[in-house]
Amino acid sequence: MKRDRNFDELAGRFKKNIYGTNKGEIRLAVLWQHLLEQLPHLVDGPPLRILDAGCGLGVFALRLAELGHELVLCDISQALLEQAQQAFNEQRPEARVEFRHISLFDLPENDETQYDLVICHAVLEWLAEPSQSIPALYSMLKPGAHLSLMFYNINSLIYRNLVRGNLRKVKSGQFSGEVNSLTPQHPLKPDEVYGWLESSGLSMLDHVGVRVFYDYMEKRLRETLPIDAIIEMELEHSRQEPYRSLGRYMHVLAQR
Ligand SMILES: C[S@@+](CC[C@H](N)C(=O)[O-])C[C@H]1O[C@@H](n2cnc3c(N)ncnc32)[C@H](O)[C@@H]1O
Repeated sequence: MKRDRNFDELAGRFKKNIYGTNKGEIRLAVLWQHLLEQLPHLVDGPPLRILDAGCGLGVFALRLAELGHELVLCDISQALLEQAQQAFNEQRPEARVEFRHISLFDLPENDETQYDLVICHAVLEWLAEPSQSIPALYSMLKPGAHLSLMFYNINSLIYRNLVRGNLRKVKSGQFSGEVNSLTPQHPLKPDEVYGWLESSGLSMLDHVGVRVFYDYMEKRLRETLPIDAIIEMELEHSRQEPYRSLGRYMHVLAQR
């Protein structure tokens, strides 16, 4: 039986490979800009109650805590939750935050709270049944509340393999990562995810691509061009077609 991927064993590599890199920086910059642009009240409104489902190291939640919001962080990985807690103790000891070692699927029946904003970033592609997560996330939103959903885009993977000449791989349609790798087990078709949102009763407000060209660049260029210049271009192209649809991840803002 397939299981949701618990990051306990990937904890060390995850921190180094995702957040210690340009990739992590670009991802944060695009997500942050998009979220604040769509939900400006995050900056100048009253504190909100926010759930980060599958929080990992809590990097994004730390930024929201900095704005004074009240947070609940949940994850099935005890190791990552402990690292998130440590990061909060060191960087935001005053934050109003609760850490829950629980699956997002089990949270609704163990927590009657409904949230103003639910964050779920880079989690769906690690789930055995990704489509089932949307009704669970929906049930934790107050009416009118928002969902910030980021998922791994299969179209980007197909395109990257095509330009690298991995034609047989594309033909096989097998894009799942190896067990214990940081390549997700379920890259997702954006149209399918948008359909799940709609059938759960969520309205899609806007979407952007996250890393629309960096992952296709030659290694030499990635290492020599200044990261600030790359981020500026990523931000600009993240919302423009056809680049948007080529994002390694898609970030969707939806509303209940
Ligand atoms: C790629 S990490 C993303 C972490 C974080 N959201 C971020 O953007 O950096 C995926 C996380 O989802 C967690 N996860 C997987 N299945 C889950 C589930 N059913 N409920 C809650 N967390 C889950 C993993 O343990 C891991 O921490």
